[in-house]
Amino acid sequence: MRIVKDGGIPEEAALRAGLEARFARSIASGKVAAWLCLDGSRPVASAALRIDPCRPGAAGRLAAADREGYVFSVYTAAPFRRQGVAAALLGLLLEEARSHGLVRLRLHPTDDSRPLYLGLGFADFRGTMVLPLRDPPRRCLGPRSALY
Ligand SMILES: CC(C)(COP(=O)(O)OP(=O)(O)OC[C@H]1O[C@@H](n2cnc3c(N)ncnc32)[C@H](O)[C@@H]1OP(=O)(O)O)[C@@H](O)C(=O)NCCC(=O)NCCS
Repeated sequence: MRIVKDGGIPEEAALRAGLEARFARSIASGKVAAWLCLDGSRPVASAALRIDPCRPGAAGRLAAADREGYVFSVYTAAPFRRQGVAAALLGLLLEEARSHGLVRLRLHPTDDSRPLYLGLGFADFRGTMVLPLRDPPRRCLGPRSALY
């Protein structure tokens, strides 16, 4: 991958340093957890979880203290695909999410990843995919249940 600005000035080193520092701060603060799968010392897959406060749903049924997880940086290097690597990392991510008592997981899928998430129980919800981690109250049925 190569990133250029204004038609050719390489910005990759500055971007990488900025991203590394930001990621390190987020991990240190406990707001982000990230997994890397290594083949020897070579990274071959990743997954990350960011913990966010829930935005109150239209129905106002979420408590102020409720938190949700945003799943990102899910990637498996091409030679390692379809061997269960992403599913295994997401299993660890799910354990972590449950240990924090998160209400739900949310993510923006790619065409490649939709089947993976469907298989893990995620459902389409308003342009994202959502996996509820908590049972909805009985009065909350249908698509609204994904809010939980
Ligand atoms: C999507 C991606 C992370 C999947 O990684 P992976 O390690 O190959 O996934 P797994 O082997 O754990 O897949 C588990 C199951 O998910 C489903 N699945 C995964 N990739 C699939 C694909 N391209 N097409 C159809 N089903 C797929 C299958 O059911 C698979 O089980 P199976 O191989 O026994 O049939 C990988 O293809 C990738 O990095 N793609 C590019 C980046 C990307 O799209 N990231 C997602 C961002 S949200």
